[in-house]
Amino acid sequence: MSYLEESRGALVALQSKDHIRILAIESSCDETAAAVIEDGRRILSNAVFTQIDLHALYGGVVPEIASRAHVEKVDLMVDQALRDAGLALADVDAVAVTCGPGLVGALLIGVSCAKALAFAARKPLVAVNHIEGHICANFLTHPDLTPPFACLVVSGGHSHLFSVEDYGAFRILGQTQDDAAGEAFDKAARVLNIPYPGGPLLDRLAEEGDPNALKLPRPKTEGRYDYSFSGLKTAFINAVHNARQKGEPLRDADLAASFRKAVVSFLVDRAMLAAEDMGLKKMALAGGVSANKLLRREMEKACKARGIELFMPRLDLCGDNAAMIGSAAYYRLMRGEIAGLDLNAQPALRLTE
Ligand code: KG4
Ligand code: ZN
Repeated sequence: MSYLEESRGALVALQSKDHIRILAIESSCDETAAAVIEDGRRILSNAVFTQIDLHALYGGVVPEIASRAHVEKVDLMVDQALRDAGLALADVDAVAVTCGPGLVGALLIGVSCAKALAFAARKPLVAVNHIEGHICANFLTHPDLTPPFACLVVSGGHSHLFSVEDYGAFRILGQTQDDAAGEAFDKAARVLNIPYPGGPLLDRLAEEGDPNALKLPRPKTEGRYDYSFSGLKTAFINAVHNARQKGEPLRDADLAASFRKAVVSFLVDRAMLAAEDMGLKKMALAGGVSANKLLRREMEKACKARGIELFMPRLDLCGDNAAMIGSAAYYRLMRGEIAGLDLNAQPALRLTE
């Protein structure tokens, strides 16, 4: 019997089990992570090795260094995730992995590792979209959250407003026309000499600044719910340089606070516009930038004022991790979506057609 036929047989057997446990692996960018998730909602373990220190020296993620670090750490993270969950590989019901989007060399490490484990242990293999994983971080934080809901996904590579119509069924309401929100935060941080990754540090610095110190333009977009951050970023960089040249530099904390306010109010306003137009009742946040303190506060305020129920991932589940991949994998597995051993990394994978 071929591996895939065996996996299909295993799928049928899973239907009579009380609990489904999935070993998940994530290696799409600069975090090497493995986790064990039960029934898509319960974290049994969540091991993450962050490569930030390795890339900080270069001011950004160096793909070759990321791949090499994934190779060194991936089996250690898998061992740790199984150990922390108190399980052996034979005890899990499936092996899941992020297959895209992300850096091709980085993705390939996780995909190869997951394929080898699934084949050796004769377990079904589940391929997960990284963005879907970010959205599912909310299922791990909020046991009561069920589709339909809208989700603002803001990370280093993506800024999308999705309608989550069902498990695994997504529709794009709006998206960035250029930079992602996280990318804009990182670039603005660089001008302020904040080390990589700038987003979280800029956020912390902004807490002490005056958000009205620097006026920034409101970006224009084609679509009503679209985003655009590159003009904002350029305006910010020019304003900082001009002020420095004139010998009247503004305080870094004030600059950080002004930039953060411009990005956050744009993110929140567009999401609320969509919510009002469409009468949305539930809104979620996802992705690295959903850890942003101001974004969380402003979203809470805006949703409360409109009677919208807001869901945000636990802070440690906002950035890249494998727990969210295990949650997304559970719903894929339940729909019978399993992968073969020909699974490949898909660096430009999309969540919708
Ligand atoms: O989701 P993520 O870990 O990786 C991607 O899938 O891209 O997101 C990383 C991005 C980085 O750009 C980082 O600077 C940003 O999220 N980020 C933040 C904060 N924490 C992480 N940006 C603003 N404020 C934060 N607190
Ligand atoms: Zn991510």
